[in-house]
Amino acid sequence: MGRHEAGQHADHPLCPDEPLPLVAGTQLRCKGWLQEAALRCLHNNLQPDMAEDWRNLVVYGGIGRAARSWPDFWAIVRALEELDDTETLLVQSGRPVGVLTTHVDAPRVLIANSNLVPRWATWEHFRELEARGLIMFGQMTAGSWIYIGTQGIVQGTYETFAEAGRVHYAERDGFDPRKPLKGRLVVTAGLGGMGGAQPLAAVLAGASFLAAEVDPQRIGRRLETRYLDEQAATIDEAIDKAIAWRQEGIARSIGVQATALDLLRRLDERGLAPDLVTDQTSAHDPLVGYHPQGMTLQEAADARVNNPTSLVSRVRLDIAEHVERLAALHGATNHWGDPVYSFDYGNNLRAEAVEGGMDDRRAFSFPGFVPAYIRPRFCRGEGPFRWVALSGDPEDIYATDRAMAALFPDNDGVQQWLADGAPRIAFQGLPARICWLGLGEREKAGLKLNDMVASGELKAPIAIGRDHLDTGSVASPNRETEGMKDGSDAVSDWVFLNALANAVSGATWVSVHHGGGVGMGYSQHAGQVIVADGTETAAQRLARVLTNDPASGVLRHLDAGYELAAQTAAKHGVKRPR
Ligand SMILES: NC(=O)c1ccc[n+]([C@@H]2O[C@H](COP(=O)([O-])OP(=O)(O)OC[C@H]3O[C@@H](n4cnc5c(N)ncnc54)[C@H](O)[C@@H]3O)[C@@H](O)[C@H]2O)c1
Repeated sequence: MGRHEAGQHADHPLCPDEPLPLVAGTQLRCKGWLQEAALRCLHNNLQPDMAEDWRNLVVYGGIGRAARSWPDFWAIVRALEELDDTETLLVQSGRPVGVLTTHVDAPRVLIANSNLVPRWATWEHFRELEARGLIMFGQMTAGSWIYIGTQGIVQGTYETFAEAGRVHYAERDGFDPRKPLKGRLVVTAGLGGMGGAQPLAAVLAGASFLAAEVDPQRIGRRLETRYLDEQAATIDEAIDKAIAWRQEGIARSIGVQATALDLLRRLDERGLAPDLVTDQTSAHDPLVGYHPQGMTLQEAADARVNNPTSLVSRVRLDIAEHVERLAALHGATNHWGDPVYSFDYGNNLRAEAVEGGMDDRRAFSFPGFVPAYIRPRFCRGEGPFRWVALSGDPEDIYATDRAMAALFPDNDGVQQWLADGAPRIAFQGLPARICWLGLGEREKAGLKLNDMVASGELKAPIAIGRDHLDTGSVASPNRETEGMKDGSDAVSDWVFLNALANAVSGATWVSVHHGGGVGMGYSQHAGQVIVADGTETAAQRLARVLTNDPASGVLRHLDAGYELAAQTAAKHGVKRPR
């Protein structure tokens, strides 16, 4: 989609002049809290401080939308307002297409976004259909109405960095499980929309952190929001400070205006290497996402318009050198005598290096973040559990924070995040919280939230959801399912089983999407949201959904041959036919 198409939404007569109101409080507009939750979360996704471009219905992630068009948005709103407790609304790529008679325990909404028959699953075909108004890109939580803003990004990045610390250093003397990267240096590049979460996440995990960012405005924004602690005037100053902090065990972050390659080359010249090295430039889009060597920002902007083909070739050569440096660092020993670990952070950097002429095996000689750090957590049925206070009152979330801290005293990640991470992040839209929780924990958390609604401790019900990047709900061979033990990276049956299991278990809305995170043809994924309204029937649905959803992930990993998944299944009584 080009700017032209995006602009058509903002220009539509049904696009409101003012941003949509946040729908909150204790009064219902719909016939029940389940429909009301969908209505509120849909509005929430499009709040001006939440959505990248609310006038064009874009929530995040390039062109990830909450509804296909403004007429579709209003039709969804009307349908939800009129929906009975025994009806289910069908949404096809952001357009409401029907209402079916079902039953009280069935989902109130079923959503399918951006799905194409595999042979036609390309951006080119998608864009043709989109231009004809036939499809919408839903990303992961944009079209499934459970985006919670930057909090989700910071916490996900924190979990990845913290897990890297646990994987590499848990056996070392003096390891602190609450600060798994204490005394370690993380080097990366890119302080943009998502990458800007890296410094705060690394510092929360205890690390010394150094990032190259080519755009000074991006650095300025991260300093203003206190995601980044300081900026260095030169690369050498940045390196010196980060090295000193690493030696003193100080958790602090520094950014420097430079390209990733400038920083890596200088570290090399000085014979220095970090403990962990990764990258969050937007390398997945070599035309606009990765700045080439030897050009100013303006020269690169001009080249994008005047000479795009040659710019992309040039960028890919730079990315090939970048990946070669990461490959050379991976497994090397730094000057402190510790091994260096490189990992791909989900920006398709390695694949772009191959496009730039790099040998495929060399490019993929260091892992992506999921096989490196996250897969064991998926084997335990863990993933980004989140909840939203439909009252709109932050006090409701603070009460749930206290409840979760008391419920999971031995979960170091939850304790650390709730104590140090969450308070640093301002709420956007409806107050929400995220914590990675696993099989067993999620059911416990959901039932506790339902009890708190029932007792009146919370002012209104809670919507409980998750990202599609979860244990059992995504097939994405360059990311979440990279390097599966049995080679089943591209098998997406699991995604559909996950969605179907959530639907029959009684989730409030269930979604099946294609292309999120990595683009058309590269992923399929599913989501669910379930509402805790304080009733006994909700408790039954919560117990089923919040067990079966992560259990499907444990089964997916068990089937692929992961022993840890087998242990998790045995511990929690997850049945598998023999
Ligand atoms: N692992 C995950 O789950 C995950 C999550 C979020 C984002 N991502 C990926 O991470 C990437 C970054 O996402 P984003 O939202 O921050 O993108 P963004 O476009 O907002 O930011 C990218 C930043 O990189 C900077 N940059 C570009 N080229 C550079 C270079 N050569 N040297 C130094 N800085 C450079 C840009 O100035 C920009 O600030 C994307 O590819 C995205 O798909 C992965």
